[in-house]
Amino acid sequence: MLSRRFASAVPLQRRLLSTHAQGVFQRLGLSPDPTSSETPGVYHGSWGGRGALVDSINPANGELLARVRQASAEDTEDTLVAAREAYKQWRTVPAPRRGLVLQDIGRALEEKRDDLGAVVSLEMGKIKSEGRGEVQEIIDIVGYAVGLSRSIGGSVFPSERPNHFITEVANPLGVVGVISAFNFPTAVYGWNLSLSLVNGNATIWKPAPTTSLCAIATTKIIASVLESHKLPGALSALVCGGGEVGQALVDDKRVDLLSFTGSEARGKIVGQQVQARFGKSLLELGGNNAAIVLPDANMALALPSIAFAALGTAGQRCTTTRRLFLHSSIADSFLASLVAAYKSTASRIGDPLAEGTLIGPVHAQDGVNRYLAAIEQIKKDGGEILVGGKRAEVDAALSKGNWVEPTIVKVANGGRGFKMMQEETFAPILYVSTFETLEEAIELNNGVAQGLSSALFTQDLSNALKWIGPEGSDTGIVNVNGSTSGAEIGAPFGGNKSTGWGRESGGDAWKQYARWASCTLNWSNEVALAQGVNFSVEE
Ligand code: UN1
Repeated sequence: MLSRRFASAVPLQRRLLSTHAQGVFQRLGLSPDPTSSETPGVYHGSWGGRGALVDSINPANGELLARVRQASAEDTEDTLVAAREAYKQWRTVPAPRRGLVLQDIGRALEEKRDDLGAVVSLEMGKIKSEGRGEVQEIIDIVGYAVGLSRSIGGSVFPSERPNHFITEVANPLGVVGVISAFNFPTAVYGWNLSLSLVNGNATIWKPAPTTSLCAIATTKIIASVLESHKLPGALSALVCGGGEVGQALVDDKRVDLLSFTGSEARGKIVGQQVQARFGKSLLELGGNNAAIVLPDANMALALPSIAFAALGTAGQRCTTTRRLFLHSSIADSFLASLVAAYKSTASRIGDPLAEGTLIGPVHAQDGVNRYLAAIEQIKKDGGEILVGGKRAEVDAALSKGNWVEPTIVKVANGGRGFKMMQEETFAPILYVSTFETLEEAIELNNGVAQGLSSALFTQDLSNALKWIGPEGSDTGIVNVNGSTSGAEIGAPFGGNKSTGWGRESGGDAWKQYARWASCTLNWSNEVALAQGVNFSVEE
């Protein structure tokens, strides 16, 4: 925690910047005090920017971190041209050699892990271990892509015709556009960049405007490796900016795949606009994730797993647990323990970079407003607030930050008809209700528009197998005795239904970043037609 006494003695902005940020910024190649000059937010081989100047703000205390020069329409156009040129060069590099470059990117990120993690904490508001964990997530997917560099390829299929050979070929796709959200300001880009690069593509990144500094610091690390290999920097191009920059990528045919993380409302439009020009899109939209606790669960495991998923990142992961369904026989005791756990975290809300902090700020002031509006609606609709429900009190030095109390709301009748439970507020609000049978709990789990992540706590194998089977959870990520949050990179990441059906990160997600061709090669001297078709012409 920051000391109140010290805070009043020294002007706030300077003191915090020098305490937390100066060394970090310097080691990342940023200006040690990016508030004193502007930071270029456009990169396609060289740094620049001719768009608006946007402030980067520390959500914990409202201090100015940097002033970022964003992309103008001309900058976006220049970036598209440079990225397509870069792709033309990169697509001819053999995949295992692309892997060597990725390996160096992984090493460079590892060297800067703690500093880049600290920038994530400073600008997004994540606690220290989660900021560092986010950078680790990029390092992990880079390692995965290095492995892919010697294994990607298509299947060989048996041909029905003599001396014919059929195989799938995965060629580079072109340019991948990545529009990412503030809550994972670097890792989601890392998933996309790694798979894009190993497949021989160039990538253009449009981060959330409020996390531009995270994007700039990440791009600097990657660009230094590309430049050391004498490769075009536009392979990892960056266009900081707002909606108009994103729209330019959505609408442009030169962007072959557009990967979008954001709200369902926006994603619905983006998906249709990319489709309208016959581009490929990959959508990661809202989550409204549920955890279910059966009476046979190991409660000592269920409680901390649910607390992490509901409280972690101050409720701002796509995978955050927002709904909790408890079997009626254990509901009172479980809820009493959970409320006690929530109360015990009251003293651990604060400076994200301080040791021992568990809950940082919500990222922006409009997040606080959304939280407060949700609380009003919850009260109107008859939800019972068991803990939280208002702005959090923090040290004086943090009074300009975005602080809310993690909240538990008890809702009757499984939450059926309780409108707020259908929505993703993106704040630390957990709705709790009860059920009688596993079938009923599954129906409640599946009874929302979104379908990202879910978790069942049970020790019974048949319950677990039912949960992951055809009559079970309909989400894209399904857990047993584990949190809805915190997926590893090895499995595909993504959600069904209004979450957008996208899959990123591990598994076969890489296949979307390639241009596939089914190739038939005839090495006989005969014309042989499939399906027994006879079509001989007179010579
Ligand atoms: C997101 O919230 O957009 O599973 C991504 C998790 C992280 C990724 C979350 N590995 O919580």
